[in-house]
Amino acid sequence: MRIAVCGKGGSGKSTISALLAKQMAKTKNVLVLDIDESNYGLHSQLGMVAPQDLMEYFGGKKGFKEKQKSPKTTQFWGLAANENSTGKPAQQQSRFFKNRWGFSDLPAEFVEEKEGIRLMAVGKIHDFGEGCACPMGVLTREFLENLDLGKNDVVIVDTEAGTEHFGRGVDKDFDLILVVVDPSYESLKLSKKFDEFGSQCGCSVYFVLNRVEPDIREEMLNSVNCANVVAEIPAKRELFKASLKGEELDIELEEIAKLAEFLEHVRY
Ligand SMILES: Nc1ncnc2c1ncn2[C@@H]1O[C@H](COP(=O)(O)OP(=O)(O)OP(=O)(O)O)[C@@H](O)[C@H]1O
Ligand SMILES: [Mg+2]
Repeated sequence: MRIAVCGKGGSGKSTISALLAKQMAKTKNVLVLDIDESNYGLHSQLGMVAPQDLMEYFGGKKGFKEKQKSPKTTQFWGLAANENSTGKPAQQQSRFFKNRWGFSDLPAEFVEEKEGIRLMAVGKIHDFGEGCACPMGVLTREFLENLDLGKNDVVIVDTEAGTEHFGRGVDKDFDLILVVVDPSYESLKLSKKFDEFGSQCGCSVYFVLNRVEPDIREEMLNSVNCANVVAEIPAKRELFKASLKGEELDIELEEIAKLAEFLEHVRY
C-alpha cells in the first residue's frame, strides 16, 4: 500500500508520518519516503540520520536533468540489467529504471534503517540557486511507478506542503491520501481542494485532524468532509517538545494505533 501524507505547511505531516510508520512497523515492512525537498527533520523524528539523496544515485540533479533530455534509448542509470530480485521490466516509459524494484532491491547506501523502518529521501535543496525541484518530482513518480510491493509492504510518503505534487501528477501513484488538517482557516479550506484532487486522480482521500482540542473539534469536523475523518490527534506537548529538540518521537498514541488498524483493513 502506498500512502501519501499531505497537507498545509506545518500541519503535522512529518509528525504523523513518523508516528504512523512506527506503529505500522509493528506488523508491516515500512518504507518512509521523504519527498519534501525543503524539510530536514523527518529523519530525527524517526531517530535516524539523514539518508543520502536518492537523486545522487541517478547522477545528482544536474546529471538527472541531462539524462532526462537524452532520447529514450535503452540506457539506464539506476541499475544494471537483471541486478534485482523482481526480474520484471520497468514501465516502458522509464529512462531511469530497467527493472522494477522490490524492497530488497533498494540501494543500501541510500536507505537508513531502524527497527523495521526504512527511510529514503528523494532529494533536498542543498545550495543557493541550484534550480527548481522538478527533477525530484519526476524521480518520485518513476520510483513509485517502478516499485513492487509485497502483501506486507507499506510505503508512507511524506510530501511537501500544499498541492504541488498533485500538479506534478505524483499522486496518481498512491493508493490512498491522508490529509493532515490542523486548526487553521487555510488548512480547513485546503482540505476541500485535496478532496477535489483526490477524485480527479481516482485516489481515496481521508482526513487526519491534528492538534484537536475539545473546544474546536466540532468546528474542525464541520469544515471537512467529516465522513472521511479517520483520526483525531490531540495537541500533545511532548510531540512539540521532542520536535523542537530534534528528538525521536518515542510517543505511543492510541489514536495513531487506531489509524494504523484502519489502514490495515481499508479497501482501496
Ligand atoms: N499533535 C501535535 N501536538 C503538538 N504539536 C504538534 C502536533 N503535531 C505536530 N506538532 C508540531 O507542529 C510542528 C509542525 O509539525 P510537522 O513538522 O510535523 O509539520 P509538517 O506539516 O511536516 O511541516 P512542513 O510543512 O514544514 O513539512 C512541529 O513543531 C510539531 O512538533
Ligand atoms: Mg514536514
